[in-house]
Amino acid sequence: MQSLDKQISAAIAAAGGAISFEKFMALALYSPDGFYSTVGQAGRRGDFITSPEVGPLFGAVVARAIDAQWQKLGHPEKFLVVEAGAGPGTLARSIVSAELGCRDALSYVAVEVSAVQRSQHSSDVISQETMPGEPIVGVIIANELLDNLPFRLFVFDGSWQEAFVAEQNETFVEVLRRVGDIPAWLPQTAQHGARVSIQNRASQWLESSLNLLQRGSVLVFDYCLTSADAINRPWREWLRTYRQHEVGEHYLRRPGSQDITSHVMVDQLQLVRQPDQISSQSDWLVRNGINELVEQGKNYWQTNAAKPDVKAMKMRSRVSESEALCDPAGLGNFKVLEWRK
Ligand SMILES: C[S@@+](CC[C@H](N)C(=O)[O-])C[C@H]1O[C@@H](n2cnc3c(N)ncnc32)[C@H](O)[C@@H]1O
Repeated sequence: MQSLDKQISAAIAAAGGAISFEKFMALALYSPDGFYSTVGQAGRRGDFITSPEVGPLFGAVVARAIDAQWQKLGHPEKFLVVEAGAGPGTLARSIVSAELGCRDALSYVAVEVSAVQRSQHSSDVISQETMPGEPIVGVIIANELLDNLPFRLFVFDGSWQEAFVAEQNETFVEVLRRVGDIPAWLPQTAQHGARVSIQNRASQWLESSLNLLQRGSVLVFDYCLTSADAINRPWREWLRTYRQHEVGEHYLRRPGSQDITSHVMVDQLQLVRQPDQISSQSDWLVRNGINELVEQGKNYWQTNAAKPDVKAMKMRSRVSESEALCDPAGLGNFKVLEWRK
């Protein structure tokens, strides 16, 4: 048995025979032998490609949005960008190296729970494990963080029951339990076997981020659904596992070797506070100037094509990066949720 399996077994025994799926997911992803503490990360050589990993264009557009916020707030002398779930720091690198009007006022804090990934952060950013404690004037960003926060899993079997994880013959198995705190907003009835993720940790993250923010905005980029849609769809469409760019195994198999993720349930975040704006990622990128950056890229390439340098190659790649980031069947269909203060 692998050491993480043993740790999960011990947790199951200590809990009297079963742990919640939420606890299982927390151990599988974030315990010392968990996926994100060991092998797991975004990137071409990692397990999945996120928008910042497509190339620097995404960060260049986010940098424009950051500058716009700084201007809107009246050019404060101290302006903080806090990126939560920063992974290996790719978005931070793109933003910090983009043209930024707010550069002299800016401090960039990259918050990442995994020490392995923090060790890859650039020295241009303040790299830390937890969110800052002081009030923030600036922007709090989370790209594909909330889908990775452990969630409770409910299953309809005559009534809503919670998924727990037990062990039988050295295999982790799901058991359903009736619990007393079923969210009141769940429908009374659903198809047999319907599932939904209850994302309390994502809601708590939003609530504490909004409390931390004195002035500015919280920007969440992620793949999203509503709870009602999740209930009505096959659960494999929104509860997924990934390993080295392939869809992984069932979420209870080989914990620590694969990512576990759910679409973010927008309606559950709306219960914390209604966002000021919800856009598709492609609309948001266009509103924040992706097309201008692509045009600049094309022009720079045309002027330098005869003797291309590294910058010319990067500028040319904006065309294909933009296609990937705005693809309505992929990243372009992600949601961008914005809360302002
Ligand atoms: C799917 S990855 C996204 C990484 C990066 N934002 C990107 O878009 O490429 C999610 C990251 O969030 C980190 N994470 C999860 N929970 C966290 C928390 N509570 N605080 C900070 N980081 C967290 C994970 O370790 C992982 O690196």
